[in-house]
Amino acid sequence: MTETYIKRIIRAPAVRAMLIQCGALPLTLAILYVMASFRLPTDYLTLAVVQGLLAALLTWKLALAAWWRAIRLLFPLAVLTALALQLPSWLFGAGFLLLLGWYWSTFRTQVPYYPSRPAVWDAVRQLLPADKAPRVIDIGSGLGGFTLYMARVRPDADVIGIELAPLPWLYSWLRAKLGRIPARFIRGDYENLDFSQFDLVFAYLSPAAMAELWRKASAEMCPGSLLVSYEFVIEERTPDSIIRATEGGVPLYIWYF
Ligand SMILES: C[S@@+](CC[C@H](N)C(=O)[O-])C[C@H]1O[C@@H](n2cnc3c(N)ncnc32)[C@H](O)[C@@H]1O
Repeated sequence: MTETYIKRIIRAPAVRAMLIQCGALPLTLAILYVMASFRLPTDYLTLAVVQGLLAALLTWKLALAAWWRAIRLLFPLAVLTALALQLPSWLFGAGFLLLLGWYWSTFRTQVPYYPSRPAVWDAVRQLLPADKAPRVIDIGSGLGGFTLYMARVRPDADVIGIELAPLPWLYSWLRAKLGRIPARFIRGDYENLDFSQFDLVFAYLSPAAMAELWRKASAEMCPGSLLVSYEFVIEERTPDSIIRATEGGVPLYIWYF
């Protein structure tokens, strides 16, 4: 694990929010200790309220996004409620594993799953060269919709989807195998790929990923290739073209190399 990788994990908002919650606990215990000496209530509900308020205050002071304040405020009360429900402990383990499989490194990448639509896939298809077998990749292929569509409508193309999260990857891999669709699905991080291997790179990520994506694409993509980003623009470089799959719809930004 490189130093930058560890730094990126520590800087991730979800990790900072978790550290804030942990950091608020000694302060909460100190406040409850003082409250006890004044014979004020120091039950679990008071602890959860004080802890939530302190964590929300620290979240605000450390300038995390506004919605983290609500999460930090309500988290201790949610823990208390879950304990009161007396649910079997395996349920928490199963829920954790399910969410882990679905989201995996989202806390670090800040790119969760949400799908693009067939109209978007078709608009991208029209960008592919007709006179050669193109190499196409969807970086962050989710449930595989884009990749499977592209492999179906351009059977001459080499179409790959790469996905970090194991459950969406498994689902898309099974869809390709069971449907006998010649699409390939890789379980991994697109940051470790060599973009020079592709004629078209399709990205539907999030604003948090775009600067790094441009750094990688501009270093690796070959002359004649295209980078297409649905919805999210790269601030560092004006797109060469903007198209919309439907009138008034969300833009597809295109950079030609
Ligand atoms: C917004 S979804 C897009 C899904 C799909 N491309 C589509 O258009 O329907 C983004 C996906 O990228 C995946 N992802 C995020 N960062 C990634 C990375 N570094 N390498 C591979 N996949 C990543 C997420 O797990 C998520 O499934």
